[in-house]
Amino acid sequence: MTGPREDLAHRLASARDRTLLLTDHDESELTRQHDALMSPLVWDLAHIGQQEDLWLLRRGDAHRAGLLPAPVEALYDAFTHPRAVRDRLPLLPPVEARAFCREVRGRVLDRLDGLGDADDPFDFAMVVSHEQQHDETMLQTLQLRLGPPLLGTGTPLPPGRPGVRGTSVLVPGGPFLLGVDAADEPFSLDNERPAHRVDVPAFAIGRVPVTNAEYAAFVADAGYRTRRWWSERGWRHTLDAGLERPQFWGRDETRTRFGVVEELPPDEPVQHVTFFEAEAYAAWAGARLPTEVEWEKAAVWDPASGCRRRFPWGSTEPTTTLANLGGTALRPAPVGAYPGGASAYGVEQLMGDVWEWTTSPLRPWPGFRPMLYAQYSQPFFGGDYRVLRGGSWAVAPSILRPSFRNWDHPFRRQIFSGIRLAWDT
Ligand code: AVJ
Ligand code: FE
Repeated sequence: MTGPREDLAHRLASARDRTLLLTDHDESELTRQHDALMSPLVWDLAHIGQQEDLWLLRRGDAHRAGLLPAPVEALYDAFTHPRAVRDRLPLLPPVEARAFCREVRGRVLDRLDGLGDADDPFDFAMVVSHEQQHDETMLQTLQLRLGPPLLGTGTPLPPGRPGVRGTSVLVPGGPFLLGVDAADEPFSLDNERPAHRVDVPAFAIGRVPVTNAEYAAFVADAGYRTRRWWSERGWRHTLDAGLERPQFWGRDETRTRFGVVEELPPDEPVQHVTFFEAEAYAAWAGARLPTEVEWEKAAVWDPASGCRRRFPWGSTEPTTTLANLGGTALRPAPVGAYPGGASAYGVEQLMGDVWEWTTSPLRPWPGFRPMLYAQYSQPFFGGDYRVLRGGSWAVAPSILRPSFRNWDHPFRRQIFSGIRLAWDT
């Protein structure tokens, strides 16, 4: 018999298994600042425990004493210490960070045991989402890390159908239901809510994400030296940062992936591009990027029934034959690998593989109400961010929904970001 308590205990345990696996490295790997953009892994580890302590043991009341002394706890406040300097903080060593996380988790499980059927388990799921998101962050750190491979080359993936490359589907104009409500998606985060009707003019959207081979043609066509494909700001950034190709690509159709140099797989979705590169590629291809509203309609709307689907393919939970999620593949799947994962409109690989840049800035849906972790979304509304949709291969299936909204600066590309094209009709 599995009830809500068992389900949550299982979600908490899977997140922790993954965190411990990603931090099962020598002390020097965990304490090193691998890149100025990322925290030392041991910071993520203790921050995961600190947030769990704050939200689940103290209900967010930071004035109550936690398990760490206040000056130590303060080291794990993401708003006060920029990532680039976290290796200079007197962080808990890995052994102590693990012990702290274990102690918090023991008490959280005690609290979970006492949870009544009438109690709302949302906060537990929110903390699971936080931990799993940091696990993806740690994979970004490990991808930036220099040195001999630590993770291997990843688990096998289904073969693609190269014929779908470059094709598109039409999404006729009309209203749909954007976002979700707690009643239908109890674990949805604050920025996904509430569900509301929006009218979306007709558009076309790529059946699959843009591939390495397609992107390589843009590079070969002097895309990075041709001003007209770029926005003003994108052009300036690309010049200033000296960008010539996606991050981790070599000059010779190779790439480095978690320390392994390999041939660039032509039919794999391109990843590690900025929003600016995505925008320039789209212009070169005679297309544009989708808005996040278009993206969500293409993903969930079922025009035959006039209802949202829970996932693009329907109501069943993601499986390894529907989407590339969970982080073990260490790469996106070739395009066409998941015909069974297609949405009602026939759009494929919306969940997993690569985060897809949209043109949308992060803003609240009308009627937005912050969750317990009120600083999760709200401080970022209206900032210099673009929304990314659909999750990457590194996202845990249990935290992902088609309504899930990620965001980052348009100049970032250490994230597992890729491109899906759209067109006006
Ligand atoms: C939603 C992925 C942009 O990593 O900055 C983790 C998630 N928030 N801890 C981020 C998050 C606080 C957030 N993103
Ligand atoms: Fe965090």
